[in-house]
Amino acid sequence: MTNSGSPVDSGPVPLPRMTVAVAGGTGFVGGAIARELARRGHRVVVLSHRLPARSGEGPSEGLVQPFEQRRADITQPHGLEAALAGVDALAISLAFRNSPIEAPRRGRTFERVDADGTVALVSAAGAAGVRRLVYMSGAGAAADAPRHWFRAKWRAEEAVRASGIPYTIFRPSWIYGPGDRSLNRFLGFARWLPFVPQIGNGRQLVAPVFVDDMGRLVADALEVSGATDATLEVGGPETLTMDAVVREALRIQGRRRLILHAPAGLMKLLTRPLTLLPSPPMTPDAIDFVVQSAQVDTGPLSAALPRHLMPLAEGLASYLAPTRRGSPG
Ligand SMILES: NC(=O)c1ccc[n+]([C@@H]2O[C@H](COP(=O)([O-])OP(=O)(O)OC[C@H]3O[C@@H](n4cnc5c(N)ncnc54)[C@H](OP(=O)(O)O)[C@@H]3O)[C@@H](O)[C@H]2O)c1
Repeated sequence: MTNSGSPVDSGPVPLPRMTVAVAGGTGFVGGAIARELARRGHRVVVLSHRLPARSGEGPSEGLVQPFEQRRADITQPHGLEAALAGVDALAISLAFRNSPIEAPRRGRTFERVDADGTVALVSAAGAAGVRRLVYMSGAGAAADAPRHWFRAKWRAEEAVRASGIPYTIFRPSWIYGPGDRSLNRFLGFARWLPFVPQIGNGRQLVAPVFVDDMGRLVADALEVSGATDATLEVGGPETLTMDAVVREALRIQGRRRLILHAPAGLMKLLTRPLTLLPSPPMTPDAIDFVVQSAQVDTGPLSAALPRHLMPLAEGLASYLAPTRRGSPG
């Protein structure tokens, strides 16, 4: 049974009904955060850089009804403070289009969006009088991390920690759910092919967390004091290989498919020339990103925000189990 209510909290509830801006609220994780906050009665403002420049405030046709939407492009810091006017709390869940496939000529990089973008947003939040921050980082963020994306995440985290605004930083392992781009891509192949292609050996370890649980944790962090000024790794109840995740998803869909592995080294070699394109479909860096393990220590999370998180089978079944009328191949 999933506990979808608030966790037991020892501290006071600081703000009964908050106005919460969600940067990245049009995205996979940010969308779940926005929905959960709205479900709990908070006023949600979704920030998006795809809104027309003159749309201004107020509900508008477009990206994520029924939330109020405001234009905020983190690559153009001058408009950010105005976008945060009247906002009590800010949840930052940013990623560039096609992440993790960087397109430097289009400004789509971890440095530009995850790091610089968060630095700019946090500075605007301070100026706008925002009283609470939540930042979606990633498991592995560190000043001296071997991968540049984790160093960018660290720089973003440091801006949050230095802001003087009470914060919670989440470092999730791997998030799945309807609308994710990774697992759904594999399952898309399985609809048409007798096999599922997978880059790498499929043995990378992840601790899958259901996207709705991630939304609940963010809302918990804003509502209770247990996670204030904490940096918390996030993972679901199991740690397993990516192959095991894909096999479980196929089992729940009632599909029998072979997983075909393409060696990561070969794929990196083949994709190297693509980095010359303005918007590459794949890059060697992105291959390193998708084959990395993301193991987490969830002890501090359970202590700060006690909550039952969905086991993988339960989370997957909630949106993948065939309906009576539908029969997968
Ligand atoms: N998915 C996972 O498994 C996972 C695991 C660990 C950590 N995370 C972290 O969770 C965060 C969200 O990931 P996601 O999977 O939800 O990504 P996503 O679906 O691609 O969403 C990214 C959001 O960023 C916004 N954005 C992009 N460029 C922007 C700009 N210039 N100005 C303002 N907003 C911009 C987009 O909104 P608009 O285009 O509407 O502006 C979009 O809503 C990321 O920081 C990621 O590192 C995710």
